[in-house]
Amino acid sequence: MSTLWPDPAADHRSRRDFMPLHGIDHIELWVGNAAQAAYHFSHAFGFTEVAYAGLETGLRDRVSHVLQQGRIRLVLTGTLDAATEIAAHQRVHGDGVKYVALSVPDVDAAYREAVARGARGLTEPHELRDGEGAVRIAEIAAYGDTVHRFVGRADYAGTFLPGFVAVAHDGDPSQPASPALLAGIDHVVANVELGEMERWVKYYEDVFGMTELIHFSDEAISTEYSALMSKVVTTGDGRVKLPINEPAEGARKSQIDEYLEFYGGPGVQHIAVSTTDIVRTVEELQARGVRFLRTPESYYDGLPQRVGEIDQSLEDLRRLGILADRDDEGYLLQIFTKPLGDRPTIFLEVIERHGARGFGEGNFKALFEAIEREQALRGNL
Ligand code: FE2
Repeated sequence: MSTLWPDPAADHRSRRDFMPLHGIDHIELWVGNAAQAAYHFSHAFGFTEVAYAGLETGLRDRVSHVLQQGRIRLVLTGTLDAATEIAAHQRVHGDGVKYVALSVPDVDAAYREAVARGARGLTEPHELRDGEGAVRIAEIAAYGDTVHRFVGRADYAGTFLPGFVAVAHDGDPSQPASPALLAGIDHVVANVELGEMERWVKYYEDVFGMTELIHFSDEAISTEYSALMSKVVTTGDGRVKLPINEPAEGARKSQIDEYLEFYGGPGVQHIAVSTTDIVRTVEELQARGVRFLRTPESYYDGLPQRVGEIDQSLEDLRRLGILADRDDEGYLLQIFTKPLGDRPTIFLEVIERHGARGFGEGNFKALFEAIEREQALRGNL
């Protein structure tokens, strides 16, 4: 399998004219219990709480904890009032991503262009201000109940947004990971309904000027086995990479169908976070109680032939259940957590790239074949 990255020069000419993006500013999850979610992300995943808003800061209906690690900023929001949009969202979806916020140089221009190009505007550009300066915000609808929030924070010196207070850590028993385990957000994956993938690819092309990452893969095979179709849209500089999945007919019920059923519609399937040392990171996360998907032993039998020479020891990968994939430009290592909450919906991926710019497509097939080998050993194939 190989990957064609869009031509950055062509992207500069077409996209930057109307929709320059600095990257993902933050991801906000709406959850059933923000205090416990914040505890989970800080203690299990090594995030540090940096800002807070709630009753103590004058809010009456909601509570938000802002967590940071490396360049990753997560906001965990819960509600105090059954009549809020957050409560309704929670009832339908359970815990999930509400905002994928994008940092832009000019919020007003981003909103104007997005709406002119077909996005549904939700919140017009407006200013939030406190003693630390001003932030401009606007919001547009994305897939399902997910929202893209534009954030312009060039004139702001505060920790997160006006209305939030910085959180001090004097005598705090939580142990922020040092050095950081997780560095940045590599990609954010959407699950949409059958037949909707192309429409959302077009949305990101039209509204954001993103381009589709072209894959030359054995798609028919990976589709048959993994029962999903996937396309990736990206900015030319690769700062924002958004794979979009839809279910496909397979031998078994698609994992995408399961997500759509339990999330109550389209939404964010997983957030992939990057690391520069996946072996140390996974060791540490497992020690902190993070539960990862198990990889069958037999997956590793075929690994050396499939990915060739890599810097990490095969024994470490096998011991920790880390997956590997290769394309024309290099290789990547990845591992997926179990769902974060009660429902079989959102999970995290940890990824370490060594040149490869794909998303581990080769692992769909390799994992399936590994399971088949074990099935065969039991005489059940
Ligand atoms: Fe991924």
